[in-house]
Amino acid sequence: MAFDEMKFKDIMGEFSATTEMIREVASNFRKDLQLGLKDVSSSSMRMLKSYVGLPTGKETGEFLALDFGGTNVRVIRYRLEGEGHSKIIRHVAEPLIVAGEYDYVGKGSTAEQMFDFLAKLIDDTIEGDHETKFYLGHTFSFPSSQDDLNNAKLIIWTKEFATSGVEGEVVNDLLTAALKRRGINNVEPVAVINDTVAVLLSAAYKNSDIYVGSIYATGHNTCYLEPSIHDPKGVGNGGMILNLECGNFMKLTPNRFDTAFDLKSEKPGEQRFEKMVSGRYMCELFGMAIAELLDEEGKHYDGLTAVDMSMIISDISENLEKVSEVIESKVGHKLEVDDLKKIRELASAIVIRSARLVTASYVGIIWQRAGDGEIVPQHVAVDGSVYEKMPLVQENIKEALGELLGKDAEKVDTILDNGGSGLGAAIAAAMAVQ
Ligand code: GLC
Repeated sequence: MAFDEMKFKDIMGEFSATTEMIREVASNFRKDLQLGLKDVSSSSMRMLKSYVGLPTGKETGEFLALDFGGTNVRVIRYRLEGEGHSKIIRHVAEPLIVAGEYDYVGKGSTAEQMFDFLAKLIDDTIEGDHETKFYLGHTFSFPSSQDDLNNAKLIIWTKEFATSGVEGEVVNDLLTAALKRRGINNVEPVAVINDTVAVLLSAAYKNSDIYVGSIYATGHNTCYLEPSIHDPKGVGNGGMILNLECGNFMKLTPNRFDTAFDLKSEKPGEQRFEKMVSGRYMCELFGMAIAELLDEEGKHYDGLTAVDMSMIISDISENLEKVSEVIESKVGHKLEVDDLKKIRELASAIVIRSARLVTASYVGIIWQRAGDGEIVPQHVAVDGSVYEKMPLVQENIKEALGELLGKDAEKVDTILDNGGSGLGAAIAAAMAVQ
């Protein structure tokens, strides 16, 4: 079959994000921050206090880091050496779902099962040593309300997690109880942070000029250092990091695919921005648009992922063999080269829109931090597979920064902070006890 040209054009139009559109998003994002700083209930973002500022870079010692928030859980034993240096002493990683074996995040799973699994991984990392004292930093990458650095209550699951008995609970209480059940009394959780906060801490431990940390992966979210907030219960330097939970930013215009997907998602109405930009969701939008092109509207292509989109976009060969392979195996159609080209264009458009919207949110924060003054030279620290591996993302962020910031774009770039969500937890633990 050959795709209907009009339909294709229409779909491509849905995914375009012009300079005017992203400028409006950046400006609305800034306004939403301003509203939230005055009264958080008037912002569409949660803007959660983290009770931590920036590290000095001098934090040292051995700490455990539990990194929980995506498809894999990691527990890492770090040695912080100061001057931005650190070493991994031991590293254990396991998926939260193994098809046919176990699933700790699906509807039937319980808090106890999930946290027992985490305790087991911690036990593996300390190699059964139930004597030596360990302080643990916990990167828990979901919206949590805190009243100090160690007390974090899960407000609501995001990223389609659905384990029962965790929402509304203090996560480190659940963890401590699971450690006890396993006979581990020597591991003390001392800090809970969001993964964006972890990335910011990790990047700021190693570099100067870092005020914004972001995750661009399965989920999407950003935090920044707000200099005006001080709290006696906070630790670290110069203000407090706010976890924006900007996946929930609402002041932007979704297209018809965004709206249709939201309605059938695990939590309709929530995380509208994240559902437009992150890896977990871009592939859903992609699948829905392909279904329209194939006159199979409403059909869901199981197993079509962001990794497939990345393979499709990377295939620049004449016959688009890779694209053809992916579409045949995941969508069940053998298509002509002209249609395969359109599929590649579509994947690119979805990714480019995502990168441009994410950049607009960074610019909103940069404008807000600058206030009436000059934008200071800075790096926005980012971690996550979409930022790191998805073709077109980094160059489109750079381009959009140029469009929105003009000459000031020289002062701003994004840098990859690989593994920051683990290292940041160890740094937070050090900041909590030192
Ligand atoms: C989701 C979570 C947020 C996290 C982000 C990236 O948006 O709500 O807390 O930072 O995913 O993992």
